[in-house]
Amino acid sequence: MPAISATAPGKLILFGEHAVVYNHPAIAIPFNGVHAKATVFATPIAPTGRVRIEAQAIGLDQTLDQLAADHPFAIAIHGVMKTLGIHWLPACHIRITSSIPIAAGMGSSAAVSIALSRALATFLGHPLEDSAVNVIAFQVEQQSHGTPSGVDNTVISFGRPVYFVRNQPIEFLMIREPLDLLVADSGIAAATGPMVAGVLQRFQADPETYGTYFDQIANLVKQARTDLESSAGVHLGPLMTENHSLLQKIGVSTPELDRLVEAALDAGALGAKLTGGGGGGNIIALVANNQIEKATQALLAAGAHRTWLLNLPRYKEPAS
Ligand code: PMV
Repeated sequence: MPAISATAPGKLILFGEHAVVYNHPAIAIPFNGVHAKATVFATPIAPTGRVRIEAQAIGLDQTLDQLAADHPFAIAIHGVMKTLGIHWLPACHIRITSSIPIAAGMGSSAAVSIALSRALATFLGHPLEDSAVNVIAFQVEQQSHGTPSGVDNTVISFGRPVYFVRNQPIEFLMIREPLDLLVADSGIAAATGPMVAGVLQRFQADPETYGTYFDQIANLVKQARTDLESSAGVHLGPLMTENHSLLQKIGVSTPELDRLVEAALDAGALGAKLTGGGGGGNIIALVANNQIEKATQALLAAGAHRTWLLNLPRYKEPAS
């Protein structure tokens, strides 16, 4: 039996992180510069039902029986079994690798569960639809993050830009003109859960002010959608920078992220903001083609541990 592999990209939130948890919209795009990969090998000479899971990057090499029931890998595997109506697994070895930085706002946890679910289901002879993968990945996110909006698992499962509102039907976003985005890593890891919990605490202490910030973010997201779909992204840069200011106000930026945003803007970027949960992780900057090199050098000089260039292509509406 040949080994079966599946991959899943990272993701970037262009607009609306954190406010999306409070039922406001967000815009997210897949990021193919990094990906998670799961490979399933049949191990016919192992005892029946022995499922070995190996993820070297996090020092994990255990059987499914040894994993805690609430471990993300266990939730994903049991999610696949439940979806397929399967009660036991053939002996196999699942290897998980990922080039997505962990706790960096790139959707690493969702991408891993999506790659794992896809590879396992295909290995079992029943490839899953994107929507089924999305449901499983959301269950994993709920276990890991408490109150996820679902934006990460959605954009990664479908692999398309989305205009996402919690508990609403998924809307795919058109991108009328290609965009060049620079992504810069602050090198600081920050888990999403505590960042979301911190915002909740501050929101509860001052609901009026925070409610206004979220409304202002929502307004930027809506303008950005119009701009991406009909005006070819010409106003996008300033909207991104405004979104960053609001993320500063809700307390999720850091001096390192602010320094990277400033460096990108000083080097001529059209706009820049942190992306994801904040507290560390990455910033994204919208750059004109002839500014890419200068902005990259400026970001590295301002402390970026690495940068990626993302050429976001045109997306038309999916065929229904
Ligand atoms: O997983 P991250 O760090 O990209 O953050 C996800 C975005 C948040 O809005 C902060 C949380 C959520 O569940 O939407």
